[in-house]
Amino acid sequence: MTKPQVVLGVSGGIAAYKACELLRRFTESGHDVRVVPTQSALHFVGEATWSALSGHRATTRVWDGVEEVPHVRIGQHADLVVVAPATADILAKAAHGLADDLLTNTLLTARCPVVFAPAMHTEMWEHPATRENVATLRRRGAIVIEPAVGRLTGVDTGKGRLPDPGEIFEVCRRVLVRGTAAPDLVGRHVVISAGGTREPLDPVRYLGNRSSGKQGYALARVALARGARVTLVAANTALPDPAGADVVRVGTAVQLREAVLKAAADADAVVMAAAVADFRPAHYAEGKIKKKDGEEPAPLELVRNPDVLAELSHDRPHPGQIVVGFAAETDNVLANGRAKLARKGCDLLVVNEVGDSKAFGSEENEAVVLAADGSETPVPYGPKEALAELVWDLVARRLG
Ligand code: CTP
Repeated sequence: MTKPQVVLGVSGGIAAYKACELLRRFTESGHDVRVVPTQSALHFVGEATWSALSGHRATTRVWDGVEEVPHVRIGQHADLVVVAPATADILAKAAHGLADDLLTNTLLTARCPVVFAPAMHTEMWEHPATRENVATLRRRGAIVIEPAVGRLTGVDTGKGRLPDPGEIFEVCRRVLVRGTAAPDLVGRHVVISAGGTREPLDPVRYLGNRSSGKQGYALARVALARGARVTLVAANTALPDPAGADVVRVGTAVQLREAVLKAAADADAVVMAAAVADFRPAHYAEGKIKKKDGEEPAPLELVRNPDVLAELSHDRPHPGQIVVGFAAETDNVLANGRAKLARKGCDLLVVNEVGDSKAFGSEENEAVVLAADGSETPVPYGPKEALAELVWDLVARRLG
């Protein structure tokens, strides 16, 4: 089997060194990578590094090896082109179709999916010129990953950091799996809740659940690879931020409700994959609850938490918004799922059978997706990303 052909474009930003890690991820997982740096990128990482790590001679010029017509061949043969880091300059050139070096020529000849991972100072990212260039590239079907927020070159902090190379790799891997299928969530804002809420009893204890957040993160990664703007409301997860997602961290059900409702105001779809505690302790002890010699513990008084899914479904900010819920059931899975779908009022309900080793914390999942229109879509046992793809297929179809 021939290896997937990846072109790694590197433009001239300080984050160029992080592209070495991205390159390794590709080569170590069986991809054939051609690195095409810009002349400026070589100020940060030299040609020798790119050639040695990729096993192909890296060059910036269209005039090297002209007998192989590299300015056309490299782009034509690629299964994926990823530019990381992508500077404001390369985004501008790509948006306007300039072709003055090997990378810009490659971008014009590639007919495969193209991913840009921008990194620059916040002012440059927010400049109307860059905003318009990014919008143009997205409109044409390119995936432009939102930069991360954090420390920039020097003392500055803000939006503009290159996301973690491992997470850029994850987006690219999903884009490669999708092949030439158009990114059908471009221009859409989706909100996903993930993880499990924790309801504190005192400063050291809480009522929680075993949700790892993996299914919600898989939904976020797949939506990003399909071009969506993603807000991920993460409750107590220990997973790396998916590249490009706006991650809002919450602890309790009440905090999750607030974050989800705020993000949902302009969202096209909301997927409630989080395990939200139905109840919380009625009283929070400011100090650690101590045991008293010879005394039985006081019964734990609980109060109801808001049902976020039901509220989202019934009070939609606009009629076209799609709301998806998840249901964990141990028995009478389908009957309970149908009743829950009706009770909550959502458009789709992903029903999982849970048990000792099923779903929680695992990489795989098996489910049935029930729809308000009466249809049922079984999802065979498989990776959580496959389930995520199917959920977004069903959502995309309903968004029209
Ligand atoms: N959910 C929610 N708010 C809650 C409880 C659950 O938004 N307070 C959402 C979950 O995110 C999930 C769906 O509702 O998408 C189903 O949660 P589940 O706990 O399985 O259903 P419940 O309605 O709590 O029903 P039961 O506990 O009776 O099975």
